[in-house]
Amino acid sequence: MTPGEFRKYAHELVDWMAAYMESVESYPVKSQVKPGEIFDRIPGAPPATPESFSSFMKDLDEIIMPGISHWQSPNFFAYFPANTSPPSILAEMIISTLGTQCMIWETSPAAAELEEKMMIWLRDLICLPAGFEGVIQDTASTSTLAAILTAREKKTGYRINEEGMKELPQLRIYCSEQTHSSVEKAVKIAGIGRKNLVKVPVGEDFSMDPSRLRDIIADDSRNGFLPCCVVATIGTTGTTSVDPLRAIGEICAKNDIWLHVDAAMAGTALILPEFQWMLDGKEYIDSFVFNPHKWMFTNFDCSAFFIKDPSLLIRTFEILPEYLRTRTRGSVNDYRDWGVPLGRRFRALKLWSVMRLYGTEALREKVRMHIRIAARLAELISSEEDFEIMAPVVINVVCFRFRPKDLGKEEVNRLNETLNHRLNDSGKIYLTHTDLNGNYTLRMVTGQTNVTIDHVMRAWELIRAAARSL
Ligand SMILES: Cc1ncc(COP(=O)(O)O)c(C=O)c1O
Repeated sequence: MTPGEFRKYAHELVDWMAAYMESVESYPVKSQVKPGEIFDRIPGAPPATPESFSSFMKDLDEIIMPGISHWQSPNFFAYFPANTSPPSILAEMIISTLGTQCMIWETSPAAAELEEKMMIWLRDLICLPAGFEGVIQDTASTSTLAAILTAREKKTGYRINEEGMKELPQLRIYCSEQTHSSVEKAVKIAGIGRKNLVKVPVGEDFSMDPSRLRDIIADDSRNGFLPCCVVATIGTTGTTSVDPLRAIGEICAKNDIWLHVDAAMAGTALILPEFQWMLDGKEYIDSFVFNPHKWMFTNFDCSAFFIKDPSLLIRTFEILPEYLRTRTRGSVNDYRDWGVPLGRRFRALKLWSVMRLYGTEALREKVRMHIRIAARLAELISSEEDFEIMAPVVINVVCFRFRPKDLGKEEVNRLNETLNHRLNDSGKIYLTHTDLNGNYTLRMVTGQTNVTIDHVMRAWELIRAAARSL
């Protein structure tokens, strides 16, 4: 394809992209295809000779689009969002065009220095302490793995990196029963072992009970384990409960334990002064992750990982083969030493475009509006006799269920599961569920880039009507 042909097709593609944005609500939010349907429509081998761009686009529309679940639909209330926005998409186009590989400063100084500056912008926007430094990782799972590996190495004097796992007491990692499964995955990968991940009970509001944490750590220390790291969550996946950082941090400080904070989605709410209470105790934090690719209108992938002492992270990940030796080493940030991958995309550019083309006040207003509409939805649900709210509505997630009178627990669970499937199969909205104390709980997240109160009101009407027709 010549640059001239590229220009022609790219213009066509931009029209397709804008049309998609304008018509996204006309698609079924959750793809309605059956397993194998798309696979069977794709030829078993690539063509030997070039096909036309128009035939490629035809297949995109006819084969691929029916198998897409529309995360960018404002009727998407499932999981946590993976938002895009026009400023972010424009930056992604530039990133793809430049195709830089940003493993070290020398392979694109602008990428490294923009990343350094964007992490300062973000750190200050969410009000993390000034000494923290940041790096962009692909996901919160990777960021948390980096934190746990760094905590492991610090705790063992960098011996596991050198000698492997021999002759060391068993390390322990702590998190709450509501913590995201990425922590369990990180503990497995780090060689610490799933059995050494201790899940601390939560209170009625689904946040970690610090007195239980204190007792468990004391027991572990007495029994010869080596407490290594606590992962606290700001905004758990099930209910957006917030673990009490100050109380947890005091326990960590007293016992020389690393404190990592996972704020994957809810970290975006920290751009609002009225949500700074979630960071009370921030002076105890060693590392912190939040994903602009969830709620901050920045295309997946973009996970912001912050650390109080980056030298510990670098010492954990550093490698120096001959071909990566440079004259600038030591005077610049070579981000390949700040995490698992060597090769890195130029992700800072989309943060730059999102923060500049929105401006921080517009970002705040949008996030505030999402939080306001969650509160309004919760009010409406509470006012119905046959529905109930299942967890405090802290930020932008509403947990609820349909609960007609005189039904047993199992029947209510089955009814809500059927309701969830029926709503998703309608293609009109997309919700997911969680389990709260054995109760099948519907969960509605109001965080999609373009969601408004009207979308939420229409969704609520659908939910009420579908529930009562069961
Ligand atoms: C609280 C929390 N932490 C971590 C993750 C994992 O995020 P990622 O897909 O960026 O690894 C999620 C995903 O939703 C989450 O809710």
